[in-house]
Amino acid sequence: MNIGIDKISFHVPNYYLDMTDLANARETDPNKFHIGLGQDQMAIIPATQDIVTLGACAAAKILTTEDKQAIDMVIVGTESSTDFSKSAAVIIHRLLDIQPFARSFEVKQACYGGTAALQQAHDYVALHPERKVLVIAADIAKYGLNSGGEPTQGCGAVAMLVTKDPHILAFNNDSVFYSEDVYDFWRPAGHDYPLVDGHMSNQIYIDSFTRVWEQNKKVNQTDSTDYAALTFHLPYTKMGRKALRAIYPEMSEAEQQRLEARYDEAISYSRQVGNLYTGSLYLGLASLLDNSDLAAGEKIGLFSYGSGAVSEFFSMTLMEDYKKSLTVEANYALLADRQALSIAEYEKMFSEKLPTDGGTYSFSDSSDFAINKISEDIRYYNK
Ligand code: HMG
Repeated sequence: MNIGIDKISFHVPNYYLDMTDLANARETDPNKFHIGLGQDQMAIIPATQDIVTLGACAAAKILTTEDKQAIDMVIVGTESSTDFSKSAAVIIHRLLDIQPFARSFEVKQACYGGTAALQQAHDYVALHPERKVLVIAADIAKYGLNSGGEPTQGCGAVAMLVTKDPHILAFNNDSVFYSEDVYDFWRPAGHDYPLVDGHMSNQIYIDSFTRVWEQNKKVNQTDSTDYAALTFHLPYTKMGRKALRAIYPEMSEAEQQRLEARYDEAISYSRQVGNLYTGSLYLGLASLLDNSDLAAGEKIGLFSYGSGAVSEFFSMTLMEDYKKSLTVEANYALLADRQALSIAEYEKMFSEKLPTDGGTYSFSDSSDFAINKISEDIRYYNK
């Protein structure tokens, strides 16, 4: 029985900052951001939206009434939770009118959380083939104004419906994973922004990739020619490229060019959005599916990395007619129709926070899902 991604969609807020404007404001050569990091735009979120609204918006685009009756689990992978106890999944479950006899919970391991959720979804469907699991990877990546990580911020959510006989991609059950207790990026309780050793995190990312890649070759008896494309967690789009190039010595030049061309197709959306933490790998996957011409039966390799650090390499196979199940035009329109912010508008929106004094405040935001009131530290969402 095939199990995999039956539907996939993503959502980003309606605002972005152009990286040339950020570079000029920070007295940096714009080429450092566009070429050195591989980022052109960065998604910015207003205070009236959060991982709940991002996740609900992403999932609402793909779920039918029938899906909502068949979903047994809603799993949110995130590191941007606003609550230590209550999960975003419980709220999203209600906002989307999913049948009540469902499990809803959050999983956390930095940017790896979305993959943990996806693999758990696979295991559940393997035991309950008639049921479905909704996986959401939603995050808001913020390092602070004028910080070293500022050009690698971003936000958004990817929603995936995991079922048997999927229409888009099937798991190949070939995961290889690796854990290493390191402090490259972490956010202790009470900190608004993560603590990060940027250059060390780059190195651990590459080392983790080469380790799982070598292990994958051994365990699954594969090499690069078995994959139509390799996709990567994308904190910024140069990062995955550096990891990909780390294994070039084992390939012919033609093979390097083939994989680099697919890589360029996979980073098109991330160049315009920035880091989605848990969702980044899957935004890259969506970009590859929408922008490439891969054939049914071909295998895509996925490298997931979450600082701290856990990584996983696994593959999925494209299903017959998968293109018919994609939402390419809507994805293009979502990115194209966003509003550019000036630096002053970005800095204001970035710094705005919801009140935390327990009082009652109302807000106006006409997005499909948004926070319209906070009272006694409960967020109220409009649908
Ligand atoms: P930095 O010190 O600002 O930049 O840090 P740099 O000096 O290293 O330059 C970056 C690149 O731009 C270099 O290229 C320069 O040569 C190039 P590279 O050597 O890397 O190929 N450059 C230029 N290119 C063209 N024209 C120019 C120019 N100037 C320089 N004029 C850093 C960059 C990414 C470290 C920083 O932004 C940061 O700390 N970001 C946050 C951490 C991060 O994203 N780490 C990635 C790996 S960890 C990860 O992926 C997990 C994560 O998603 C979190 C999670 O798991 O939850 C972050």
